Amino acid sequence: MDKNDHAKHTLEPHVLIFPTPLQGPVSCFLKLAELLCISGIHVTFLNTDYIHRPLIRHTQVLSRFRNYPNFQFETIPDGLEHDNPVSIEKLDEMIDAVNAAAKPLFRDMMISGRWSRSSERPVTVMIVDAFFSFAVELGLETSTPVFCFQTISPWEQSDELVTSVPGTQHFLRKRDLAGFCQTDDLSNMELQFVLQQALITPQTQGLILNTFEELDALVLPHIRKVCPNVYPIGPLHSLYRSRLLADTTQILENISSNSVWKEDKTCLSWLDKHPPKSVAYISFGSLATINVDQMLEIWHGLVHTGKPFLWVKRPESITGEYNESQVPNELLERTKEIGCIVDWAPQEEVLAHPAVGVFLTHSGWNSTIESIAHGVPIICWPYFYDQQVNSRFVGEVWKVGVDMKDLTCDRFIIEKAVRDVMDTRQGMFTQSATAWQNLAKESIGETGSSSKNFALLLDDIRELSS
Ligand code: UDX
Repeated sequence: MDKNDHAKHTLEPHVLIFPTPLQGPVSCFLKLAELLCISGIHVTFLNTDYIHRPLIRHTQVLSRFRNYPNFQFETIPDGLEHDNPVSIEKLDEMIDAVNAAAKPLFRDMMISGRWSRSSERPVTVMIVDAFFSFAVELGLETSTPVFCFQTISPWEQSDELVTSVPGTQHFLRKRDLAGFCQTDDLSNMELQFVLQQALITPQTQGLILNTFEELDALVLPHIRKVCPNVYPIGPLHSLYRSRLLADTTQILENISSNSVWKEDKTCLSWLDKHPPKSVAYISFGSLATINVDQMLEIWHGLVHTGKPFLWVKRPESITGEYNESQVPNELLERTKEIGCIVDWAPQEEVLAHPAVGVFLTHSGWNSTIESIAHGVPIICWPYFYDQQVNSRFVGEVWKVGVDMKDLTCDRFIIEKAVRDVMDTRQGMFTQSATAWQNLAKESIGETGSSSKNFALLLDDIRELSS
């Protein structure tokens, strides 16, 4: 590196990235980190210990980040013994532990400039999840510009819901909102937590969202009224892929989803054996759980359709006493013929596979936008948080599938829903799904809205760091 290069290098912004320590957000934040790295920005990626442990066992992710001299991982203790919260039931434990252990340490590390060592420059900008309001507060206190990156649906950001949001009065019902939005009890913990995030976000430099302008055209104008700068840069996994493919220094086979958990890629060769749009894909994300009865109902329903199915069954996602002897032989035998069950799949690649004809999902935001990006019709079985509103949009606004929130988990209902989306109304759903897929593709094209928003984000990070 000559003298000029060295000066240029040291003048590049140094961004500290601090995600919520959960599989979904970490994978999204890693994609954003990599996009910043290939744009020349120095990144320190801060993980809490328990989410970093599974990631370092997963050498593929680590080795790809070793390619970037302008990237470093750092960790912060969180006092948690287990590797990760594998279900929603453990989320509170994680939030309490991180607040107790990491909050004071984060302050010390930030103030001591600990993260400047390898960048030769102190942190100039932070990108954090509003989940960690303490990180945002410290940024404000130390005059370090902060951006919030929200990896859930933008609707969770709006404090004007149902009747107060013009354009939504005719379809958004109270039961389409997260449980905590349906209560008038202001002492509700979840509501407090979300309100805290909603109040702190407008005090930051801006809000980065994994959506695209056209998809959330109803809510983005409302968010823009309260947040100074909003950067919808989604579908992030598509933007990420297209930028890495365009970067000639990248080895294509190495482009990954940056999943924290190890993906079982054998299901991709299983998919290769099936005709286009013939397979039902089932996954309920990284936190939702089902009980044994629900699992058996879903299983019966899938088998009754006679359609091939690929099912992600995280070992910890079944609650209560469960062992294989509870599963009728008929199901096990039929599954050997038409099913494929894995602990964790390479979901982005699965949804991009031509064999997949429908996605039965909990409607987590990332699953929803990934399905939209690949034009796969959706059956929504929402559980909590933004999943309720996402499923309403899938059914009523984007019309790319069906919302099952009012129905019970019953084998005949599951069978009917799969047949409805894959056979009876297949043409209609495929048409809308393809239209949204095309808009998603345009948004990440050279002149598309998400590409422009990403360029704007880079400019703003550089300006704030100068
Ligand atoms: C959580 C909340 O549950 C959800 O409501 C919110 O919108 C985001 O945070 P999670 O439950 O994990 O997320 O769901 P989702 O947002 O859909 O994210 C799941 C991610 O895991 C996706 O990016 C998906 O590609 C990935 N995944 C899922 C895999 O890589 N493999 C799998 O087998 C299943």
